[in-house]
Amino acid sequence: MPPIRVPFCRPDYGQRERLAFEDAIAGGRLEGGGPQTQACEELLQTGTGAERVLITPSCTAALEMMALALELGSGHEVIVPAFTFVSTANAFALRGATPVFADIDPLTMNLDVEAARLAITPRTRAIMLVHYAGVGCEMEAFLALCAEHDLVLLEDAAQAVGARWNDKALGSFGAMGALSFHHTKNVTCGEGGALLVNTPDMIKPAEFIRDKGTDRADFLRGHVNKYEWRVLGSSYLLSELAAAVLLGQLQRIKELTSARMRIWREYDQHFGQINSLRTPHIPKAATHNAHIYGIRFANRALRDACDIYMRSKGVMTAPHYVPLHLTPAGKTFGRASGELPHTIDATQTLLRLPLYSTMSDDEMKLVIETLKDFLCENGLGGA
Ligand SMILES: Cc1ncc(COP(=O)(O)O)c(C=O)c1O
Repeated sequence: MPPIRVPFCRPDYGQRERLAFEDAIAGGRLEGGGPQTQACEELLQTGTGAERVLITPSCTAALEMMALALELGSGHEVIVPAFTFVSTANAFALRGATPVFADIDPLTMNLDVEAARLAITPRTRAIMLVHYAGVGCEMEAFLALCAEHDLVLLEDAAQAVGARWNDKALGSFGAMGALSFHHTKNVTCGEGGALLVNTPDMIKPAEFIRDKGTDRADFLRGHVNKYEWRVLGSSYLLSELAAAVLLGQLQRIKELTSARMRIWREYDQHFGQINSLRTPHIPKAATHNAHIYGIRFANRALRDACDIYMRSKGVMTAPHYVPLHLTPAGKTFGRASGELPHTIDATQTLLRLPLYSTMSDDEMKLVIETLKDFLCENGLGGA
């Protein structure tokens, strides 16, 4: 392998994160639920408008909490896009519910409204949206669809911190939403996530679930004099150490997002008009967060060739998901609604370019020039 000249992602930890980390250590209590946790939750609550935010060890944990809070189980179905990360579906399969995979919109790669409608059966309990690349799904249409069929709307906003739809935060539309603060995300503490609770009657169950199924949070507030096992739950509290790093990152979210946006726009200026490529489609109502810049080729052979070429020059590009309905567990625990051609196409043709807030001009130029060289050598434009 040639040396890496431009990594795919690179977290941007600074002085704020270091100071908050030291504060947490000096505080002497690193279990979850302390001052760093509360500060993160307040910032996220203000930023998203959610009724209550609970930070968690991952977005996966937050998704599992949703399945527990809704008491989903055998005989229930949840509609999910087939073009997503495994956790979106796994959270429901863990409870014995069936993820039903539906196709995506070919332009945004988000769940397609009509495909979701066709996947509804008498067993459907919820529709789970994924805001791919931090670009919002068609929220008004999904809210109407869920109201029409009495379904719960859920949002996997793993990639969408800071992103909005019609100026409302993604993750704050459905009954619950989940954010990720994993290493690869715009705002990160290595591993971390958040559950956004948007319906007041879900707040208490969500708090119980996060704290091993107990009312320990009420005990710590002095509302009960002992805590006890109330519901099915698990260990979904984030350590104060990670919360401290997250707090520093959340305080810098504007700076982190605008630095990414500069790179995203530069890529779009160079590649947005090239006929041989499909580049990100941003609906008018969407304010995205520059999480991903993905280009799509005419076919898999070209995508794979480009990926190999870029990596051979030390530029770390990356395809994305595999079709979840075709994976061994997807076939065992879920079911596909129809053929899902747009999902197959996206998984075969998409290539993500390196994108991170600390990317230097030289690194950005290297990505652009290397990709242009590939396009020229293959008669795909880009001169
Ligand atoms: C759409 C989606 N959902 C869920 C996750 C899982 O996030 P985490 O690693 O925080 O559990 C990811 C991770 O990349 C994701 O892209």
